[in-house]
Amino acid sequence: MVASQRRVPFLSVLRRALLQVEGEIRWHEPLAPHTSLQIGGPADVFVIPSDVEDVIRVVQGARMSRIPLMVLGGTNVVIRDKGIRGIVMQLKQLTEIREEPNQLVYSQAGVRLPRLMQFALGRKLSGMEWAAGVPGTVGGGVAMNAGTRLGEMQDILQAIDFVTLHGIRKRIEASTVSFLYRKTMLPKGIVVGAWMQLTSAAKDTIQSATKQYLQYRKSTQPLTLPNAGSVFKNPSGDSAGRLIEVTGLKGLRVGDAEVSTKHANFIVNRGAATADQVLRLVRKVQDSVAIKFGVALQLEWKVVGER
Ligand code: EPU
Repeated sequence: MVASQRRVPFLSVLRRALLQVEGEIRWHEPLAPHTSLQIGGPADVFVIPSDVEDVIRVVQGARMSRIPLMVLGGTNVVIRDKGIRGIVMQLKQLTEIREEPNQLVYSQAGVRLPRLMQFALGRKLSGMEWAAGVPGTVGGGVAMNAGTRLGEMQDILQAIDFVTLHGIRKRIEASTVSFLYRKTMLPKGIVVGAWMQLTSAAKDTIQSATKQYLQYRKSTQPLTLPNAGSVFKNPSGDSAGRLIEVTGLKGLRVGDAEVSTKHANFIVNRGAATADQVLRLVRKVQDSVAIKFGVALQLEWKVVGER
């Protein structure tokens, strides 16, 4: 069957699935501008739910019509060049943050980590300093147990505000969840918010820890060029950046995709890189490091979409 024959009925099914949705709906939305790497083909439909109730409407619509649904955070992901079939949902309207008793902070999933850090600093709450310079959202951070050398989401997470694929909202206690390195073992569904346990501290102490850490990242990472964060997980006891640098791969390019000359575990988009170029470069790096060190580097990025 040719694509155009399949497309018309599929689009009408999509339209029906989203009839009740109140948020923004964009058809054939290019996804590159929604990613930090600035790469990726279009989504059949891109939805920005207006609130958690609206997320539930999208989830139920997708489920009843058997349409694939994914949530796009946009910072730790590579979207292939032909884009994503079905519904891509972005939670950027879920922006509520509030302080609860006993230094507990509730944040919705669409809040960017730097904003949450500002909120905590303003209330003299410590515990988020590890996230200085991490560009993702609270939802993405919870789902992948984001972290740095200073700490990770798991250290502060008390509970997760969650919507199951049946559209049921529930609170999942962090004590019942397993956390791995850059992976949170959650059931299938959508993180719509999180409760984080912070502690009281002097504003100066929080500010200076954050500043020092931001400076370290600025001096060691290519933060001014489009990138998707660390490419590979660190192999146990070693560092992916070190292995790639010693293999002599800094500056290696496929088209406009380049192994950063500043930090070898970053791939930067020099302007017009495609996902195909980025992923070919990833394989070259994996092959060369495997030959030199016998180490199989595992991707930290999530790769999605059609080739
Ligand atoms: N190194 C090299 N060459 C390089 C890069 C690094 O030899 O080109 C060496 C450094 O000299 C250092 C070691 O590798 O001895 C570790 O480097 P770095 O301190 O930059 O940390 P990392 O392990 O590469 C991790 C996180 C980053 C986070 C930094 C700083 C992972 C996979 N990455 O990087 O997180 O910002 O620590 O805390 O754990 C991300 O996950 O997207 C991310 C950016």
